[in-house]
Amino acid sequence: MNDPIYETVITTVAPDGRVHVAPMGVRYAGELVVLMPFKPSTTLDNVLAGGHAVLNVVTDTRVFAGCVTGRRAWPTVAAECIAGQRLACALNHVELELVEHRDDAQRPVLRLARVHAATHAPFIGLNRAQAAVVEGAVLVSRLHMLPVDKIETEMKYLQIAIDKTAAAPEHEAWGWLREAVDAHRVKVEAVAGKGAR
Ligand SMILES: Cc1cc2nc3c(=O)[nH]c(=O)nc-3n(C[C@H](O)[C@H](O)[C@H](O)COP(=O)(O)O)c2cc1C
Repeated sequence: MNDPIYETVITTVAPDGRVHVAPMGVRYAGELVVLMPFKPSTTLDNVLAGGHAVLNVVTDTRVFAGCVTGRRAWPTVAAECIAGQRLACALNHVELELVEHRDDAQRPVLRLARVHAATHAPFIGLNRAQAAVVEGAVLVSRLHMLPVDKIETEMKYLQIAIDKTAAAPEHEAWGWLREAVDAHRVKVEAVAGKGAR
């Protein structure tokens, strides 16, 4: 069985002070948090440069959909114990310090220790539309790797949970993802059309 992966949002700060927000799956290895960013990655660069990151647990899935559709300016608040920033909408956050970096040509492994954790809002339960937005965001982050028909089939299935269980934030997030998929399809069809001429 694979280790479970938890979908979180990692916030890091560049040496020039710019805050970077990126959805990332994390694994928990005892007390450590394990990140595996694909190169090239601003998150990787920032963690290696500054030695810190913040793990944010969020249920506002607009952050996931926004980051993969070019909307990365999410409000942040200063971290309490490290030079970092957490998301203002985090239900809880964990401040992290790099303890091990295993480099790799494609996907290095970063192991980070917990320095501080805080809870800001209650978790009120699983919501299918939020899960659908996260799945849709994964598809959109892989548009360049997946056949467009497969993306459309999966989006159509995920749409059911959106229609049945979404609140306004999930509808907004889903709209951004649909727009991205539609724009991608138009591009793919234009290229195919040129090839056929
Ligand atoms: C739910 C979700 C999980 C993701 N997990 C990872 C991950 O574990 N590693 C990774 O490199 N990118 C992951 N991505 C894609 C990144 O968020 C995206 O490519 C991002 O820009 C990472 O690169 P960056 O550090 O340069 O921002 C994930 C995206 C989503 C929507």
